[in-house]
Formats: sequence, C-alpha cells, structure tokens
Amino acid sequence: MNRKLVIVMMGLPARGKSTMARKLSRTLELDGVKSAIFNNGDLRRRMSEENTSSSIFFSPGNPEGVAFREKISSVNIENAHKFLRGGGCVAILDASNVTRKRRRKIQDTFSETPLLFIECMNADDEALEANLERKAGLSEFSDRTKEEAIASFLKRIKYYESIYEPLDVEPNRILVDSFESCILQEQASYEVPYYDRIRDILTTRVVRNLFLVRHGETFFNVEDRIGGNSELTDKGFEQAKSLAEHFATQRIPIIFTSNYKRTLQTAETIRERQDFCSIIALPEFNEIHGGVCEGMTYKQISEQMPHVARARRLNKYNYIYPEGEGYKTMEERVHRGLKKVFYLNNYDENIMIVGHKAVNRMILSKFLSRQEKEIPYIYMPQNRYYHIQINPHKRIFELIPYHTASV
Ligand code: F6P
Repeated sequence: MNRKLVIVMMGLPARGKSTMARKLSRTLELDGVKSAIFNNGDLRRRMSEENTSSSIFFSPGNPEGVAFREKISSVNIENAHKFLRGGGCVAILDASNVTRKRRRKIQDTFSETPLLFIECMNADDEALEANLERKAGLSEFSDRTKEEAIASFLKRIKYYESIYEPLDVEPNRILVDSFESCILQEQASYEVPYYDRIRDILTTRVVRNLFLVRHGETFFNVEDRIGGNSELTDKGFEQAKSLAEHFATQRIPIIFTSNYKRTLQTAETIRERQDFCSIIALPEFNEIHGGVCEGMTYKQISEQMPHVARARRLNKYNYIYPEGEGYKTMEERVHRGLKKVFYLNNYDENIMIVGHKAVNRMILSKFLSRQEKEIPYIYMPQNRYYHIQINPHKRIFELIPYHTASV
C-alpha cells in the first residue's frame, strides 16, 4: 500500500537534523519506500545569488532575510507536495522549523496527509563544538577564518534560540537526542505510517561504509615499543601513500584520527589524494596509555616488570597499566569518540577512521559481537583495513589489503 507521510524536522542549527533526515530517507528507500528530502539550507544556497551565510541574514529583525527564508520554505513545501502527488511516499522537510507559525503553515498545507514532527536536540557541548568546527570548514564560509565562521554560526544559533518554540501542540511528535541516538519523548497516534520503522531508524546505528585503518609503521613499531608519539618511518609513509592511492577514487569527506602524529601523518597523506577532505582529531581515539610502561619494549616490560607482563597476559582486557589505562577503562571514551564520528559525519557515504591497534580493536568490538576477553587479540595489521557496512539489510566486515607491490 502506498501510504503517504510528511516528516517535519525541527531544531536549532547544528543539532544533527540533516544527518537524521538522510538516515531516514536512505533507509526507507532501502525498504522500497519512495522518500525525498527538501532541505531549506540547500535551496537557499541555490536560490540566492549572494552569500547568505552571514548571521544578520538570520536575524528575526531583518525583514528581507525573514521574507526570503519564508519564500524558500514555501517553495520546499510546494516541492514536497508535488513529490507526494507524483507517487512519492515520504517527504522530509529538513529545516529548523523552530516557530509554531511555520509549523502551523506546514500543517495547514498538508491537511490531508499525516505529519510527524521530529525535534532534534543535543545536550553534549563538546560534540556541538566539534560540529561547529566542521561547519566552519564548509565552502559557504570560505571567505572567513575558522574563528570568524564559528562566531558567525554561534550568532545565527542565538537568533534561532530567540524565537524557538519547542514542539508541544503538534499531534505527532518525537524528541530525539541526535548525539546519543535515543528518543527522549514521543507522542504519536498509531495511524502514523511507518512509525515503528522510523522509531527504529532513529535509534539504530547504520554504517554505510566505515573504513577502519591503522596508522602506518612508526619508529616505535620497528623497535616494538609501546605508546609514545612516534612519527612514521619511510615504510610508514609508503603505506600511507598506498592507502591514499587505494582510496583516491572514493570520496572521503572527513578522516577521523587521534591526536597522535602517527595517525595525523597517515591521514594527511591520504588527504593529499582527495579533492575536499577534512581531518578531525578526536582525543577519544588516542592509543591506550601504557602508564609507567610508556616507551618500553614488550621485552623490557617482561624483564624489568615481570609482574606487569604476567598480570596482563592472564587477563588482558581487564588489566590496567600502573598509572595508565587498560582495554576496559578505554571502552567508554572510545565509544564516545564513535558517537562523535556518527554525529559529525553528516551521514555521508564513506567514513574513515585512522586509529591505533588497541583503539581500533575497541571500535571493531562495538560492531562485532566478541567476548571481552577476545577483544585485545583482534587482528589489527598495518597492511590491511577493515571495511564495515551495517544496515537493516546486511552486515559486512571485510579485511582488505591495500599494499602496492613496492612496499
Ligand atoms: O605497539 C603499538 C601499540 O599501538 C602500542 O602503543 C599499544 O600499547 C599496543 O599497540 C596495544 O596492543 P596490545 O594491547 O596488544 O599490547
């Protein structure tokens, strides 16, 4: 049956609305439900000859800006209408829609079609900050410094906050924490089409293509030393170049790394072969901290601290290095880093993480069902990467070699 639905996204800028909209549309399409997104920001950029990214354009006290944005909203509402009349099933209106007046206009226009309002919020300041940094790198801010772009975006958010009216009178509504991917409140009639499916999509992690890469060889790796902030060797740079070559034909919009030189050097080399790619370093992906053993070789640890080597061998997952970390204590931060990745990647086709041996094992364990005690032994070579795809229709984990013959 060809059931029709209009989903109305709602929330302040940079709260993950577009990422959610894309996730919904793409997954519904995979289910065979014809869906389309009508994004006001994209239309604004297409319809305006001038750069409309300055904060004043969004001021409620700027009549021209208000009128232009209303016009864009009307065009998108009309386009959504046409889409539904032409055989489309789910039209997603992706805009801030923060005033009741705007939402009333949508309700009046679609009086014959069920509507579902989805309000996106995010209470995590750090994730929001990282999202603002990402947005500051977008082409519409190319004439400004990063600091100017962030300041302008924050001002834009303030304008939206000044007129923000949360969902309350709208009949079918869901409040989602887009960073945590969880539903905070909901009220919807059983008649909303696809409701259970939508609920499931909002709270399920969908991974289109995640490339989980380990950094290239470092001087510490050659000497079998743990931790530290060593640089790549010539071989490590060759490996990074092979990776760059391997991924040159795929679009990688963001590479997530740790703060350490070895992941940054690997990512920078990969970026050289991409047209538009930014690097976001997340401290959550820093390698396991070896505490008093940092910088030692495994042999030195066995000889000089046999109790450490023994205790770790007996229970590697739970073992915590003195003054350092263990797999168990890393779990929470790595998981948090992963949430940031999904929040920041804008639901793009491809995500790349360049991480470390232990961190990558923890990341992989979030997708594979492995017993804790097996996690510290997951195979994590430097000449292959993991390709992960997870959606309601499939789960794929492939270990793919990338080396060229010269390495
Ligand atoms: O040897 C490289 C390294 O990334 C070290 O920095 C880290 O301590 C280690 O691997 C983690 O692997 P394992 O838990 O097997 O010692």
